[in-house]
Amino acid sequence: MKEVISTVKEVKLIADNVYSLTVTLPEPVGEVRGGQFLNISTGDSSRLLKRPFGIVKAEGCDVTVCFQVKGGGTLALADARVGDKLSVLLPLGNGFILSENAKNIVVIGGGVGIFPLVPVICGNKDKKFYTYIGFRNKGCACLLDEFEKSEKFTVVTDDGSIGEKDNAVNAYLKDRENVRADMIIACGPPVMLRALKTQLKDKGITTPCLVSLEERMGCGIGACLVCVCGKTDGSRARVCKDGPVFDINEVEL
Ligand SMILES: Cc1cc2nc3c(=O)[nH]c(=O)nc-3n(C[C@H](O)[C@H](O)[C@H](O)COP(=O)(O)OP(=O)(O)OC[C@H]3O[C@@H](n4cnc5c(N)ncnc54)[C@H](O)[C@@H]3O)c2cc1C
Ligand code: FES
Repeated sequence: MKEVISTVKEVKLIADNVYSLTVTLPEPVGEVRGGQFLNISTGDSSRLLKRPFGIVKAEGCDVTVCFQVKGGGTLALADARVGDKLSVLLPLGNGFILSENAKNIVVIGGGVGIFPLVPVICGNKDKKFYTYIGFRNKGCACLLDEFEKSEKFTVVTDDGSIGEKDNAVNAYLKDRENVRADMIIACGPPVMLRALKTQLKDKGITTPCLVSLEERMGCGIGACLVCVCGKTDGSRARVCKDGPVFDINEVEL
């Protein structure tokens, strides 16, 4: 993990209220695992805390993240100009560690939770991915070409404007008989992850499942305890340092 001053290379609108931001670091990024994230300053000096985003692409000295504008920090980032300097801390967190024996991976993503899943699919050529992605509507859909690299790819929307009117968890469960899953990985809003946990339990599905959590963060490096989440054994974990990826049965959702 290192902290460097990056230079904004590109900011681009890729869906309703969603931007892709590429920054150039002074040195090559090195290896990044899908699900790892970075913490980036917003360029607005009134906001001291950096903001966390899943790394979508890391190539040479360039790193790309995609983000939805939520509040002041992401609004400032959407306004960044080519050449602006932003401080970046990376790579952070554990990322998705796929077991070597798992060859067929089911990928479930919802909304902005799809972003950390992209490098998993692009970076593990020895695996087959069966991907189920859900958006609110057509206007929110993005990066579909990245997910099309999967062995099988299904996109659904809440209103049916692309694919069936459904959510990503249901889309997988309906197709479950057609897919041999050695492992499931998922990232999305808490309601999606909760539904996944409940459904897996109710249906007696014991396939190992990893989920990436999103908590409000401060330092991003395990020091401030802003991001703690509850574990099912009663202990607590720091999402930034111990996660953000956990076994679905290990954490309270
Ligand atoms: C490990 C990790 C990876 C993430 N990856 C992405 C990503 O790839 N793309 C993306 O769009 N977003 C991602 N997020 C969420 C993103 O960090 C927040 O949306 C962002 O920090 C909000 O900053 P803001 O200043 O615009 O909003 P604020 O003004 O700080 O808050 C505005 C709203 O955003 C919500 N919010 C703030 N922080 C978070 C958070 N950490 N998670 C969820 N909601 C939050 C607040 O509850 C509030 O409703 C990630 C979060 C984590 C922890
Ligand atoms: S954000 Fe500070 S400990 Fe996780």
